[in-house]
Amino acid sequence: MEMLYEGKAKKVYSTDTKNVLRIEYKNSATAFNGVKKDIIEGKGILNNLFSSFFFTMLAEKNIQSHFIKKISDTEQLVTAVTIIPLEVIVRNVAAGTLAKRIGKEEGFIMKKPIIELCYKNDELGDPILNDDHIEILELATPIELKVIKIKALQINDVLKEYFENHHIDLIDFKLEFGKTADGIILLADEISPDTCRLWDSTTKQKFDKDVFRRDIAPLRETYQALADKLGIS
Ligand code: TMP
Ligand code: ASP
Repeated sequence: MEMLYEGKAKKVYSTDTKNVLRIEYKNSATAFNGVKKDIIEGKGILNNLFSSFFFTMLAEKNIQSHFIKKISDTEQLVTAVTIIPLEVIVRNVAAGTLAKRIGKEEGFIMKKPIIELCYKNDELGDPILNDDHIEILELATPIELKVIKIKALQINDVLKEYFENHHIDLIDFKLEFGKTADGIILLADEISPDTCRLWDSTTKQKFDKDVFRRDIAPLRETYQALADKLGIS
């Protein structure tokens, strides 16, 4: 089947079924807009596993996504959507670019979860946008943006509780949403340690892509340890 799109971490193919696509999770790891990169055997399998698991868990809580089913170690079927070019970041604890922007130490606990919206545009370096920018760029209507923010916070509630039960702090994560042929807004892309910050609740050990970004530990072993901790296989 025809490959429709290749991103940094996934390939997207058409299928024989209308409005159904096949996604293949790749073994490539990138950071800093592709400046740092590596091929890591087994990464595709692990992220397909995590993403399938979290999308299934969210569906059980009535939060639908593009995910239909996992069809192999590295592949899943998804509903075709047009991706809204926004990176929707939910943060419970300041880390990464937020810690830098507001001059706080990583680990600064915020009194409520906050949402940041970034323009999904590699050439511009994914700049942060406010609601007015999004409206004038026509990336989403104000009503669509409201729906996206509500869904993002619902997803945070579900994921945060799940991780808490496994002794992990959900520091922050990035979501992407898409629109179906009928105009319905669906959670899309992936949910994996590539797109979340996850710290052990006691030791604060990192179980996410920061180990690769910052050369802290080997990525595959870290993601495998996370899968073991969560009992996902
Ligand atoms: P940041 O602190 O670097 O802005 O990242 C916030 C969260 O978003 C963090 O969980 C990592 C995730 N993220 C992605 O999934 N993709 C990206 O391209 C970037 C920059 C961050
Ligand atoms: N996903 C981005 C990249 O591949 C940045 C990141 O996750 O740090 O470059």
